[in-house]
Amino acid sequence: MASVLATGFVLIAGIAALPTNGLHNPQVSRNLNGRSDPVPGESPLFATYLGKETPLEPKYLKPIPAIEPAGGNVSSVNDDNLFQNLLSAEWAIYSFYQQGAEAFSTADFTKLGLPNTTYDRIQQIRDNEAGHIRIFQDSISNQSLKPGPCQYDYGFDNNAETYLATQVLLELSSMAFLTGLIDQAKLSATKSALVAIAETESRHNSWALIDVWNVNPFAGPSDTVYPYANQILDLTNSLIVPGSCPKENPPYPSPNQHLPSLEFVRNFTTGHPGAHIQFTFPDETNQPIFNSDKEYHAVFFHGVNNITVPFDTAQHTSRIPEQFDKKVGLILAVIASEPGAPTEDTVIAGPLILLQQPESLTLLVS
Ligand SMILES: *[C@@H]1O[C@H](CO)[C@@H](O)[C@H](O)[C@H]1NC(C)=O
Ligand SMILES: *[C@@H]1O[C@H](CO)[C@@H](O)[C@H](O)[C@H]1NC(C)=O
Ligand SMILES: *[C@@H]1O[C@H](CO)[C@@H](O)[C@H](O)[C@H]1NC(C)=O
Ligand SMILES: *[C@@H]1O[C@H](CO)[C@@H](O)[C@H](O)[C@H]1NC(C)=O
Ligand SMILES: *[C@@H]1O[C@H](CO)[C@@H](O)[C@H](O)[C@H]1NC(C)=O
Repeated sequence: MASVLATGFVLIAGIAALPTNGLHNPQVSRNLNGRSDPVPGESPLFATYLGKETPLEPKYLKPIPAIEPAGGNVSSVNDDNLFQNLLSAEWAIYSFYQQGAEAFSTADFTKLGLPNTTYDRIQQIRDNEAGHIRIFQDSISNQSLKPGPCQYDYGFDNNAETYLATQVLLELSSMAFLTGLIDQAKLSATKSALVAIAETESRHNSWALIDVWNVNPFAGPSDTVYPYANQILDLTNSLIVPGSCPKENPPYPSPNQHLPSLEFVRNFTTGHPGAHIQFTFPDETNQPIFNSDKEYHAVFFHGVNNITVPFDTAQHTSRIPEQFDKKVGLILAVIASEPGAPTEDTVIAGPLILLQQPESLTLLVS
């Protein structure tokens, strides 16, 4: 991540401050109207509140135990398991913005030539994410535990540029796992809520692409669909400070395939469509096993399609499909035992997210 500082700075420094429309939201006090239990969609605390203090009440900042007996079969009839996974992921996303609200000020961003609304937007996104926490908590029935937050380390080390680079990756990844979670949802109401939340994450990302990165904010006709959402959720475990999760929390994600993680050698590729790529498996304790008499594949996902390319098991090399749109959205890669990775258990390593936009970050963040 260290090299983001150099390249990211050049990029940001080249942006002239854009005129803002002056529609500043009024400061909203955290204890708005003395209301003790604000509801997302009915409170500025989850929309326009500006302040370093979290909009969340202390009682919502920890695991909330089940208060009704589960019976034998609770998660076969509701989406508690899905929402427990999603709430655990949301804690990692909300905390990123809460840490940003605490660490920075307006001047940290205007100093970089960015609009003077940048810090406000970070706080407002934090408000939205806090609203997601409350929505997901309320979506888990009283028969199941609502997981609490762990401690998270995003590696931005109080650096505003590194922070902004990580922001794009988090928003794009969350859109990718939200589409996949729809496959797991049992109730139509859950599916609708997941689409509505994904739309919100997409607005956050569009804001950053316009105001921070000064690039085309569109991702082509479709963002990337990847059906095995828990594999993407598992990537967020790398943000958790080891041993910091509440003891009550269920395993996250559940179920978890514990796949070998996938990375790539940055100095041998541009990371863009058509480029040669050499993969690595950085977790020495969790390596894929390749049978010498079998073929393996690199499967690349972009938009609603995937393209399978031969994978060299000796060199760990492949080629990113030339056909994919250039400079938009993301490309997701996995190593698979079958072309197209048609089932979850045919994925043997990954996923790896190759950020395509802003293009300058492709080789810098992961
Ligand atoms: C923010 O920037 C705009 C346009 O550059 C300017 O008109 C406005 O006064 C600035 N607001 C603050 C609070 O500095
Ligand atoms: C659990 O719920 C599912 C779906 O409603 C049902 O098909 C199944 O028979 C239930 N199992 C038990 C043990 O009650
Ligand atoms: C869950 O428990 C809360 C707090 O006791 C209660 O207000 C709510 O109505 C309960 N929800 C359901 C669906 O029973
Ligand atoms: C390329 O990266 C690899 C692994 O990170 C490193 O070992 C190697 O020295 C690098 N090669 C060059 C030419 O920078
Ligand atoms: C990849 O595409 C193929 C062909 O359209 C499809 O059969 C397969 O299910 C897709 N893989 C995934 C993981 O969606």
